[in-house]
Amino acid sequence: MKNKYWAKNKYSTVDPLDYEIARFRTNAGKLIDEAEKRAVLDLLLNSGIDYKKDFKILDAATGPGRLAFYLSDHLREAKITGVDINENMLRRAREIAGEKKVNINFIKGDIYHLPFQKAQFDAVVGLRFSMHLPDIDSLIRELARVLKKDGILIFDIFNLKSILRLRSSGKNSKRQFSGWYNVSDLIDVSAQNGLEFVQKKGLFLCGETILRTFPEKLLFILSVFVRPPLFLQNFSTKIVLCFRKIEL
Ligand SMILES: C[S@@+](CC[C@H](N)C(=O)[O-])C[C@H]1O[C@@H](n2cnc3c(N)ncnc32)[C@H](O)[C@@H]1O
Repeated sequence: MKNKYWAKNKYSTVDPLDYEIARFRTNAGKLIDEAEKRAVLDLLLNSGIDYKKDFKILDAATGPGRLAFYLSDHLREAKITGVDINENMLRRAREIAGEKKVNINFIKGDIYHLPFQKAQFDAVVGLRFSMHLPDIDSLIRELARVLKKDGILIFDIFNLKSILRLRSSGKNSKRQFSGWYNVSDLIDVSAQNGLEFVQKKGLFLCGETILRTFPEKLLFILSVFVRPPLFLQNFSTKIVLCFRKIEL
């Protein structure tokens, strides 16, 4: 298993603007970006939350805050906090918040040891951390700790049973590839931490690199690959998972 903090080190030297441009500013990147954020929002809204003023959301490993800003655009009454371990990412997030005149609290913190007391948030969300941070069991425990009762946890994983990884979906393949998980394993780990599985959404029927190198003229075909029909979702590359905290 990789060192717990390798992603901290990796991202401490990444220029957040380069990160955004390379991943989310091309036409394909925009589709990927929107699909991921929309999946989180849809799962949250469909989870039966009691959304009202001061609904508190934590965006874990927020980076330059792409999900935090999206949620703040769509859930105007929510009080959103973004946490990340790297100052370079937070600086960019605060800069965008200033430009957009949005009130999101971006704070420095380690998501293995969050700087919050227990049961603080109505929802904890996060994109693109599970594939970079090993020891998912500790992460789920820590994210569950800061959730209120009935609070919602949503995050994405790379799916070990995806078409891309079919050859490795044997019984003992759990975590064979760092960052690739079986949904059922994560449902088990979550249950041990007082989290009940609510729903999931599959995204992308192929690797992101293929999507990104798709000819622009054929981008219209991409939607099927980006948001696969329900019967193919279990084989998608990414799965966004939604849990509810049932025990404190
Ligand atoms: C791939 S980026 C994802 C950023 C953002 N969630 C997104 O989807 O654009 C991973 C982020 O995890 C952050 N990170 C790495 N280790 C962390 C840790 N232990 N605690 C908090 N953030 C961490 C990095 O600084 C980086 O911003």
